[in-house]
Amino acid sequence: MAESSDLQIQKKKVPHLAILPIPLQGHLNAMLQLANLLHSKGFSITVIHTNFNSPNPSNFPNLRFEPIPDGLSDGKRWTEDPIHATHVLNDSCQEPFHDCLSRLISDSPHGPVTCIITDEIFHCTKDVADRLKLPRILLGTTSAFHIATMTTFKLLQQNGLLSISDGEPNTLIPEIPPLRMKDIPDIGTADPEMMERLGAGIDNAMRSALGYIQNTFDGLESTYLVKIRQDIHPMPLFEVGPLYKFSPGSSNSILTQDYSCMAWLDKQVPETVIYISFGSSGSFGKKDVVEIAWGLANSDQPFLWVLRPGSIHGHDSVELPEGFEEKTRERGRIVNWAPQQEVLAHPSVGGFWTHNGWNSTLESICEGVPMLCSPYLWDQKVNARFASHVWKVGIQLENGFNRSEIEWAIRRLMVEIEGKEIRERARDLKENAMRCMEKGGSSYESLESLVDLIMSL
Ligand code: UDX
Repeated sequence: MAESSDLQIQKKKVPHLAILPIPLQGHLNAMLQLANLLHSKGFSITVIHTNFNSPNPSNFPNLRFEPIPDGLSDGKRWTEDPIHATHVLNDSCQEPFHDCLSRLISDSPHGPVTCIITDEIFHCTKDVADRLKLPRILLGTTSAFHIATMTTFKLLQQNGLLSISDGEPNTLIPEIPPLRMKDIPDIGTADPEMMERLGAGIDNAMRSALGYIQNTFDGLESTYLVKIRQDIHPMPLFEVGPLYKFSPGSSNSILTQDYSCMAWLDKQVPETVIYISFGSSGSFGKKDVVEIAWGLANSDQPFLWVLRPGSIHGHDSVELPEGFEEKTRERGRIVNWAPQQEVLAHPSVGGFWTHNGWNSTLESICEGVPMLCSPYLWDQKVNARFASHVWKVGIQLENGFNRSEIEWAIRRLMVEIEGKEIRERARDLKENAMRCMEKGGSSYESLESLVDLIMSL
């Protein structure tokens, strides 16, 4: 007798995926959002994670967690030299990752792992996947234009057509508009050779991957997605962003988020508050903090400022200038760490002063919040340039932190006509993002293709 279809479904194997994130805030968020999203599509998921910055399993009841040693007991390595830390991570995790996966293939109550998804920076996973004959899909946590423009930049360099020391910082690079020499990422390493080795490792790991997932959407950067498909990555590309919208509540905050600021926001006038956060790893000189504080105070705008502990060079605690608190008590709020996605979605928030990490940039765009841009390293400079000069949803602070420039930039964004126009463009981009997520939209369809690919393995 034929089995009932219910029984057939029960017996059908649920594909088991292993996921390996890089333990940095922006990278962890994107990977765990993806993991929860894939779980909602019917996959069984094991997250293999480092002890350093390990996620909190109780926030993710649908996922299983397997810790591995990482050689990063001292988290300072990330802030001191992230490239060196990335090397340590790739070297230290390779064998533990192999051992953990071997176990999950031969002896898991959830069935053998059939595919792995890893952050592209974890290039050591190629060797592991090859040894275990497992297909591998990569997650890139930056934008498509960052990948496309940096690929062109590297080609120009290799062909002797451009050198990083060429020309003055404001010179436009005609081959990758609207980038200038000073927008080229500053990687922040004492060892450029190590950087080259890391780049080579990532390029090599890219070659045999089955697919490449990006946390972006077609309505934002279609030209660059086309370029990547045509000229850069030989494997299928899946643009499935914005992941945090597809998978709400799936972020993993390393620091405790202070929700008390939400009640404070409730009391403010719509679109009047500027929210300030420079991400999870940036740090500033004491003088910068003084300039930021007086810029905020003199702008006369309400503000919510994330001042992360340890974000001031050489100081464990934050000391604000005398008179600042008195001047801003009625209209300012400072927290160690905020529930950023909820803050940006709050009707009182009218602007985001950001370092332009890709997650922050995407979150601002998807909530229709215009940006004041202060990038400092990695892809942030490219993101800031696109926000201000391509989508025109932001104003870039060009000369570091100077109180009168800050005051004027905040007023331009929050009260001047220019700010209103920027806000309208930001709203259009938000709608664009929502359309890409609907059935038939590019991100929705791309996600379906990704699911089909993994199901076919
Ligand atoms: C890093 C790099 O800075 C970035 O350039 C790269 O694209 C990804 O890795 P990070 O500095 O952490 O990331 O910035 P970002 O990518 O913006 O991610 C920060 C995340 O932390 C966001 O998802 C944001 O919502 C969250 N956050 C930030 C909080 O939850 N609370 C805060 O107070 C600030």
